[in-house]
Amino acid sequence: MRVYLIGFMGSGKSTAGKKLANKLALDFFDLDELIEQESAMSVSTFFKKYGETKFRELENVILQKTFQSENVLISTGGGTPCFFDNIQKINQKGISVYLKADIPLILSRLKGEKNQRPLIKDKSDDELRKYLTQLLSRREKFYEQAHIITEAKSLNINKLSEQIKSFAKE
Ligand code: S3P
Repeated sequence: MRVYLIGFMGSGKSTAGKKLANKLALDFFDLDELIEQESAMSVSTFFKKYGETKFRELENVILQKTFQSENVLISTGGGTPCFFDNIQKINQKGISVYLKADIPLILSRLKGEKNQRPLIKDKSDDELRKYLTQLLSRREKFYEQAHIITEAKSLNINKLSEQIKSFAKE
């Protein structure tokens, strides 16, 4: 089984991903961490040095590499499904789960950690709300293509793992 957790920044993909991987007895990988290992720098340094276009290219290459792994759960970056044909590929090669969060939840999670996030680090609270609202509305059409959609606010790891198992059987 190969499971991809997708969703916006701050939706809790990494935390939920670890728990879910544990429940499903899968190895957990965080795509941003794989990118950091490959490039030997943090995502935020990579953005600063090479820009977003180069980041998306590397992200796409590293995503493709994950298609060779078995029994894994991969937590993707917020932008991963929205570039190239990544969401189609994810859906072909694995089971995708969209961890759906709304703007108030995302804002409350992101406010304290702006600095680690290259896309938002220079924005005021007001700018941040506007920017995230626009970005989420542009990205939703990609996220909504996931095989399974689950609400971040009321996330139930047991239920979700059962849902994934029954999807895998279909
Ligand atoms: C990004 C989200 C980040 C990381 C990069 C770009 C995005 O991942 O990949 O900063 O475009 O939304 P998280 O969703 O894990 O924060």
